[in-house]
Amino acid sequence: MKTYIITGGAGFIGANFVKYMLATYHDVQLIVLDALTYAGNLGTIAKDVDGKRCIFVKGDICDSSLVTGLFEKYPVEVVVNFAAESHVDRSIENPRLFLETNILGTQNLMEVARKFWAVGKDDKGYPSWKKGVRFHQVSTDEVYGSLGATGYFTETTPLDPHSPYSASKTSADLIIKAYMETYKFPATITRCSNNYGPYHFPEKLIPLIIKNILEGKKLPVYGDGKNVRDWLYVEDHCKAIDQVVRFGRAGEIYNVGGHNEKQNIEIVKLTIDTIRHLMETEPAYRKVLKTDLSNVSYDLITYVTDRLGHDQRYAIDPTKMKNELNWAPETSFETGIIRTIRWYLENQAWVDEVTSGDYQKYYEKMYSNR
Ligand code: NAD
Ligand code: TYD
Repeated sequence: MKTYIITGGAGFIGANFVKYMLATYHDVQLIVLDALTYAGNLGTIAKDVDGKRCIFVKGDICDSSLVTGLFEKYPVEVVVNFAAESHVDRSIENPRLFLETNILGTQNLMEVARKFWAVGKDDKGYPSWKKGVRFHQVSTDEVYGSLGATGYFTETTPLDPHSPYSASKTSADLIIKAYMETYKFPATITRCSNNYGPYHFPEKLIPLIIKNILEGKKLPVYGDGKNVRDWLYVEDHCKAIDQVVRFGRAGEIYNVGGHNEKQNIEIVKLTIDTIRHLMETEPAYRKVLKTDLSNVSYDLITYVTDRLGHDQRYAIDPTKMKNELNWAPETSFETGIIRTIRWYLENQAWVDEVTSGDYQKYYEKMYSNR
């Protein structure tokens, strides 16, 4: 039995990872540590938390005594750090919170792991590490900044973050690098492109667009809609992380992406077309439509004021993942987007649950001045 701490396991990717790990392995124990911010929802993993193979702990990754208590109580061998403030628009409104969670929280987790995992010193004074331990940081391609029309981010692309969110994730990567160099701390980092799939909080592009279409609301497209993101189905990301944790070399960074670039406006139009098609061919879905089917059209598209400092294009070169770890995305965008849209049509109760708090106030504030 291998014991993992999965931070942020009640959020989008973390929850998908928890489900993936429990479905794939019988010999893992997962301690999910999550502060349940607006983006975390215990209901998402309620069926997975059984108190034995999967234990839930509500708490902040910045809380040193809490994290220490978890290491004292459980034989933790792996930490996978998903916990973060993750939304670029929110980081523009309130950068400070991003620095606290994303940088200080990450350092706190590493510092506790360092104390529990170091088991002596080598002849040069570097710590020796308990066998089989690993700290894994879930980072983002946004640390590389923005691309023009051509080219891809590789692991050696210079770091050039533009938003408070990406700057905070970059800072976390740098403090991890410092631990790797100074203590030979056994860590790995994955930098992934935009994910999509089930349990994605509906403030991010794809789930927001689905939600608004179903409600007959405007679809806010920032700027000219031609910014490009490289989309990856969330389960493919989970498999990549698992592969890196088990077989990746400590001290290494791996880029994870799907060679699946799309302009935002393409995504918005495809989502409208797909929802309309599903409603026409499978009328049972119409019960979740809060507007007339004739309103599900491109007329909903509304170009709004651009995001400040909006990165133009992200695109990942995943060659290292392919060559070293034999990882490649398995889900095509065509399959993944239909699966995702169907999931949202069938799980409106989840959407209502996660948006029942302060979300509406946030949404109105965010889009009222655009
Ligand atoms: P999310 O916002 O859906 O979930 C974040 C989770 O972290 C939530 O459950 C939240 O409650 C929890 N959390 C926040 N602050 C915390 C704290 N201080 N202590 C403990 N828990 C806390 O995010 P996501 O989209 O699932 O992203 C997960 C990770 O993957 C993040 O580190 C993000 O930077 C990275 N990432 C995301 C994407 C993407 O497309 N979503 C792409 C690349 C990398
Ligand atoms: P988002 O899902 O916030 O992810 P990220 O900023 O981390 O890439 O945004 C994806 C793209 O969609 C990004 O170029 C901004 C754009 N966007 C819109 O055009 N309208 C929206 O309402 C949102 C949330 C994003």
